[in-house]
Amino acid sequence: MLKIKQLKVNTDNKEILKGINLTINKNEVHVLMGPNGSGKSTLAQTLMGHPNYHVTDGEIIFEDKNLLELKSNERALSGLFLSFQYPSEVTGVSITNFLRTIYNKKNAVKLSPIKFREILQEKMSILGISQDFTSRYLNEGFSGGEKKKMEMLQMLIMEPKLAILDELDSGLDIDALKTVSEAVNYLRTTTNMSVLVITHYTRILNYIIPDFVHVIKDGVLVKSGGKELADELEQQGYAPFGE
Ligand SMILES: Nc1ncnc2c1ncn2[C@@H]1O[C@H](COP(=O)(O)OP(=O)(O)O)[C@@H](O)[C@H]1O
Ligand SMILES: [Mg+2]
Repeated sequence: MLKIKQLKVNTDNKEILKGINLTINKNEVHVLMGPNGSGKSTLAQTLMGHPNYHVTDGEIIFEDKNLLELKSNERALSGLFLSFQYPSEVTGVSITNFLRTIYNKKNAVKLSPIKFREILQEKMSILGISQDFTSRYLNEGFSGGEKKKMEMLQMLIMEPKLAILDELDSGLDIDALKTVSEAVNYLRTTTNMSVLVITHYTRILNYIIPDFVHVIKDGVLVKSGGKELADELEQQGYAPFGE
């Protein structure tokens, strides 16, 4: 589904990613872990096509397409989802309208507000989100946990093929963490979604069980393994990897 080959990325004329190789197949959960500044978010932003990150070498193939030739919105429509990919506050746009717009675009349909409400309500009940939530304006005055719920609602509406969840668990209480994990696990079982979880804590891995764990250090993947690698990191930190 996703194949990253020898990827090198610069930002501010500095090489951040120094030859990343990573393959993610359908329905797999990969976890990318590493110390601060190791290049995790750089990889996520590069996958979504953020203009500050320049690919100097290598390639990214997503479902047989050259991802690097697609614009950010085309990447989203072709099934890539990054949490934080939308502006944090959009004044005057209700959540319902925002989500209806992206749903219609993704599915090339023009559902009326009433028809869309049925779909939205089903997704909200999966996440246990209350009805009054969606009449609020997008992210205005949202707490950290509410922003995350919003992102997860967006993910359920988009039904991506691959979700990239960057620092999913930073600052979340257990309640919000559970909501997030439920959304991810729901899509894994109902749509075969693949996931790339980027984190520096292992806490989230109690709720989202990884198939593969990769350790990034200074722009290079220094080790890959199964879930046991996360347990190792939990106990020993990144020190054995040279930090
Ligand atoms: N937009 C940017 N401009 C300049 N330097 C950046 C930018 N984004 C990231 N960096 C630098 O790239 C390195 C990796 O950052 P990042 O990918 O955010 O790490 P992580 O997410 O693993 O903490 C850091 O040294 C950071 O300072
Ligand atoms: Mg980061």
